[in-house]
Amino acid sequence: MKSHRIDLTARLPQVSAEELLAGFVPTARFGRASFENYRPNPEFPSQAAAVSELRRFVTEVAQPKRASWNPFVRRKNEGAGRYLDGGFGVGKTHLLAASWHEFDGRKAFLSFQELLYTIGVLGRVRAAEAFGGYRLLAIDEFELDDPGNTHMASTFLGELMPAGTHVITTSNTEPGQLGQGRFNASDFERQIMGIAARFEMLPVDGPDYRQRGAQLMPPLSGAQLDALEDHLASGGVGYARLSWAELERHLLRVHPARFTKLLEGVGAVLLDGLAPIENQNSALRLVHFVDKVYDLNLRFAASGSSLDVLFSPTYRSGAYAKKYSRCLSRLSELLSEAGEILELR
Ligand SMILES: Nc1ncnc2c1ncn2[C@@H]1O[C@H](COP(=O)(O)OP(=O)(O)OP(=O)(O)O)[C@@H](O)[C@H]1O
Ligand SMILES: [Mg+2]
Repeated sequence: MKSHRIDLTARLPQVSAEELLAGFVPTARFGRASFENYRPNPEFPSQAAAVSELRRFVTEVAQPKRASWNPFVRRKNEGAGRYLDGGFGVGKTHLLAASWHEFDGRKAFLSFQELLYTIGVLGRVRAAEAFGGYRLLAIDEFELDDPGNTHMASTFLGELMPAGTHVITTSNTEPGQLGQGRFNASDFERQIMGIAARFEMLPVDGPDYRQRGAQLMPPLSGAQLDALEDHLASGGVGYARLSWAELERHLLRVHPARFTKLLEGVGAVLLDGLAPIENQNSALRLVHFVDKVYDLNLRFAASGSSLDVLFSPTYRSGAYAKKYSRCLSRLSELLSEAGEILELR
């Protein structure tokens, strides 16, 4: 009966550079995101404005480069940048994926995390070569967490964009505020300002599209998890069921850029005994794991502590506050989806 159960803790995936590069397309949740199925909120004109600017941008940058010695034309051949800035759930990733789908040319879609990891694996020179082949890079969730990634991002964009790669990115943080509170960002002001100068800002205002986060969903009971497990197993869905303690230990051994591979063939993750998280490393790993589960459109359910006590209040008001809020909002949405499955059974 339970033959589709997958043991995540037995997986320590390795990802080659080629595999990494081949996987840079929008994740399942955004596989069909388009400008047509994005419904701008009329109360927030920045949404419709972002759509028309992105449409114009992807059409314009798809035009072939013109070879010329004229400095003006050469300057036009340089990559341009657009930076979608807004609160969580307003549809930034949807718009990013829509731009990627609409763009006609060589293109890659990846998270900022994945980008940095890939640069780390390939090294600066090979990374610039590999990504230099793209005309458009769509980078989700731009975040500067430390001086190392600030330097890496600044060098990488400084090599790539002048050579003709265009970049659209999303973030919860305005470009000028990147890194604030996480490290002594003022020391790196020049680099941060340099990064910001490569982008034109497109604010996306408005409420959370799904109204998620207004009230956090309660966790499931153990019996509900059992029922969900039976439902998944009888439907032939590959799923993982493990305790939070086991998952926590395992996530610390797997880099977030390998989470896609960790979750290969997994349709659902069932977690027993969610509990308040005592250290920031584990908390951030859970954030990245939930991001992946969410982006891959997997089912997810958990029993144990309620979401409002999962992350300590000090984390939730600290430098990574937005990441934690976003994670809770996504967990809540996933729990509500799981609840719907139980009701429909
Ligand atoms: N205006 C809209 N029309 C249609 N669907 C939308 C719209 N805005 C958001 N959505 C949908 O709502 C969900 C949340 O949007 P999305 O993930 O793009 O938000 P986000 O701004 O990237 O949030 P986060 O900060 O959490 O990454 C997605 O499933 C997306 O397709
Ligand atoms: Mg997003």
